[in-house]
Amino acid sequence: MNNLKKETEIGIIIGNRDYWNKGYGRDALKTLTQYLFETTSFERLHLKTLVNNIRAQKCFLQSSFQIYGQVHKTGFDYILMDLRRSNWENLH
Ligand SMILES: CC(C)(COP(=O)(O)OP(=O)(O)OC[C@H]1O[C@@H](n2cnc3c(N)ncnc32)[C@H](O)[C@@H]1OP(=O)(O)O)[C@@H](O)C(=O)NCCC(=O)NCCS
Repeated sequence: MNNLKKETEIGIIIGNRDYWNKGYGRDALKTLTQYLFETTSFERLHLKTLVNNIRAQKCFLQSSFQIYGQVHKTGFDYILMDLRRSNWENLH
């Protein structure tokens, strides 16, 4: 993480698929975003996920991330999402 840049990319993987779709991803993101906004000066968190990864997109949308674009990179299409500190603060 580079605090000087005021933004950082995040990612999440639940390795054991028996634990997918149970809300743990949403819970982990809530905890992670709260930690980052409360203990760092980051203004923006961003991430990318594959266009066909509907589960991840739904989890991120439910965690207050918003879609801001799409990119084709190394042969794959990704959805770009972010969460700004101001949006996060408005929710709390
Ligand atoms: C992506 C990941 C972190 C999400 O965590 P999770 O605990 O599975 O997600 P949640 O349970 O919090 O939320 C998933 C939501 O998507 C929904 N969903 C799952 N598959 C879906 C589909 N095909 N279409 C529509 N909705 C779908 C679930 O029902 C759930 O919504 P709900 O709670 O309203 O019912 C986790 O699945 C994971 O690690 N996957 C493998 C790695 C990965 O894809 N990482 C992301 C890379 S960017």
